[in-house]
Amino acid sequence: MLLEGLRPVAASEPVLRADDLGVLRGEAVFETLRIAGGRPAHLAAHLQRLVLSAARLDIALPAGFAELAVAASEGLDDGVLRLVCSKGAPGAGPVGFAVVTEVPAETRQAREHGVSAVTLTLGLSAAQRAEAPWLLGGVKSTSYAVNMASLRAAAAAGAQDAIWLSSDGWVLEAPTATVVVSVAGELVSPPASVGILAGTTLAVVQELVPVAVRPVSAAELAGADEVLLLSSVRGVAAVVELDGRPLGLGPVGKDLRDRFEATLLR
Ligand SMILES: Cc1ncc(COP(=O)(O)O)c(C=O)c1O
Repeated sequence: MLLEGLRPVAASEPVLRADDLGVLRGEAVFETLRIAGGRPAHLAAHLQRLVLSAARLDIALPAGFAELAVAASEGLDDGVLRLVCSKGAPGAGPVGFAVVTEVPAETRQAREHGVSAVTLTLGLSAAQRAEAPWLLGGVKSTSYAVNMASLRAAAAAGAQDAIWLSSDGWVLEAPTATVVVSVAGELVSPPASVGILAGTTLAVVQELVPVAVRPVSAAELAGADEVLLLSSVRGVAAVVELDGRPLGLGPVGKDLRDRFEATLLR
């Protein structure tokens, strides 16, 4: 569905010009939301982050994304909603649109049974993205080729997901999720200052249980009782095997998953 006039379009219909800077340079921002009960879940938090991402890419975000999200979700019980705003072609305005798809079977599977993961270095120190804001740490732009390549590297290593470590040994995030570890009865997640995306799922989870936000070392991750990956569509997914070490589906992850799912319709 196009933002302009909230016009429904078939996914096969072109909506971007070939010279759009989103296409040519990756200068586009997006949000991925869960559609639950005909509504986009936790919409306000996603819209806030979309505004921040657009500002960092100098994209003049048009008004109307809230209405677009609501209109695109109508009548769907369960689904995936992507809100996208591309910078547009030189001399033309930004282009906003929404894409609705089904929740992939492997996502449901991961929610239910967890995922295996491997750690991969991102090749940057934990401080680097704060020191160099042009690396766009914390921005949800469509330049996700590195994220997708990381998932392919994980798959080549026989795992379903990856957890990025900094070059100086700190936990960052997963290519499409926030990392939370359970260590000695405490839930901990790395701070946004290491250049990661501020997760909306983490924010919802923090309303349910205390989660300390502080740097997490690779050693802490390796010794954690439970490791969880948080993201809007998959929800709370347990890491059942990390770098070959079996972790299984633990009680903390199961409880948080169920409680997060219950927030989707509120
Ligand atoms: C790199 C990255 N980190 C974290 C997240 C989790 O964000 P959210 O919980 O808002 O979906 C995502 C979601 O897609 C992501 O792509």
